[in-house]
Amino acid sequence: MDRFAIVGGKPVEGVVNISGAKNAALPAMAASLLTAERVVLRNVPRVRDIGTMRSLLDDLGVDSALTHEEHGNRLEIEARRLVNPTAPYELVKQMRASVLVLGPLVARFGEARVSMPGGCAIGARPINLHIKGLEKLGASINMEHGYVEARAGGLKGAQFTFDTISVTGTENLMMAAALAEGDTILENAAREPEVEDLARLLNKMGASIEGAGTDTLRIRGAAKLHGADHAIIPDRIEAGTFLVAAPLTGGHLILKRVEPAHLTATVSKLSEAGAAIREAGPNELEVEAGGPLRAADVVTAEYPGFPTDMQAQYMTLMTQAEGAAVITETIFENRFLHALELARMGADITVNGRRAVVRGPVRLSGANVQASDLRASASLVLAGLAAEGETIVDRVYHIDRGYERIEEKLARVGARIRRVSES
Ligand code: EPZ
Repeated sequence: MDRFAIVGGKPVEGVVNISGAKNAALPAMAASLLTAERVVLRNVPRVRDIGTMRSLLDDLGVDSALTHEEHGNRLEIEARRLVNPTAPYELVKQMRASVLVLGPLVARFGEARVSMPGGCAIGARPINLHIKGLEKLGASINMEHGYVEARAGGLKGAQFTFDTISVTGTENLMMAAALAEGDTILENAAREPEVEDLARLLNKMGASIEGAGTDTLRIRGAAKLHGADHAIIPDRIEAGTFLVAAPLTGGHLILKRVEPAHLTATVSKLSEAGAAIREAGPNELEVEAGGPLRAADVVTAEYPGFPTDMQAQYMTLMTQAEGAAVITETIFENRFLHALELARMGADITVNGRRAVVRGPVRLSGANVQASDLRASASLVLAGLAAEGETIVDRVYHIDRGYERIEEKLARVGARIRRVSES
């Protein structure tokens, strides 16, 4: 397993090109199952999860071709026919987002067999709302041997209200409703930019979806959908991670190919903590340390609130801020695993349930640390940049799932980081 060796203490300075959003590309790839025609996706990030989703599509009998373009990959997918309707355990356990094929498979082919994703490091991650919604659209669902088996002789539009806001739940049901007969209303829907981007793609494919980006979606089902050509939105979490790296190390970065409108809560909170961030162009953000960092409390929330996917990175920043910051995680029940590793580097963090108190500034010292999930690993890499001495981050396959060669992007702006490939 690869690891990163990081020698801290050097400010990051220079230009970073932000990649396409993994969490927009994954539902877009699943949406290609809704038509027999070619779907072209651009600005697809070169990350592990995209490879896993391609393997899943391949298992289903769906061809996809990948070509490198200057920024990101171009992916062409043609779901002309389905060889088998199963998303196997081996793939789903690697990537929960595999559940996104459930809605499209039932809608287009009338059947799907998707392994239950099971929990993961950050929480139980149930998919009960995905299932309840599909049943409301007329699918019959059977759960056995760890698989969700769904069948439908044609879905029918319906009204469905989510008990809790679910990003992939909203995406799954939006895709299923796009081929259902009649109108569907989804209430208490997720408002994330990735949900909006999926709606834009589906509408390009001939769907008629209104309200994307709000908590109520109206979907008029179509008999058929056709191919489309679509560029994936920038990754707001990768961008947020680099927005932390600059003030954390006393550096100065220009982020290119970002969408500032997707980062308002993150920019506002980091500015409150003392970062100096400004729009340097239509898709550019400039960030530097605006003076000493100050502790600022944060509560994670569904979009447009402060993203849970930025919580771990923010915790690392708060270890260098003057005062005590209270970090409240409202989305997942176990998303403080990084706190234990940061404490081993000298951080002063008290965790109590969904609340963590970070007291700073403390001098972090390099150590051997272990990544547990995608964003926790990002917080440990950031900590290594700020720590005195060398930090070894193990199990970087977690970070490779959602960041495109982060060590190369960081090294290009002066960080002393290298990948050590274990044979
Ligand atoms: C998406 O996960 C993202 N993944 C996650 O990013 C992100 O952390 C999360 O949304 C929250 O923003 C993708 O988009 C591929 P949820 P998702 O359904 O859709 C509960 C990353 O780092 N819930 O919005 O799985 C659930 O337990 C990943 O890239 C139910 O109870 O998250 C959680 O408490 C990590 N029943 C809350 O809702 C359901 O059927 C939000 O989960 C579904 C969800």
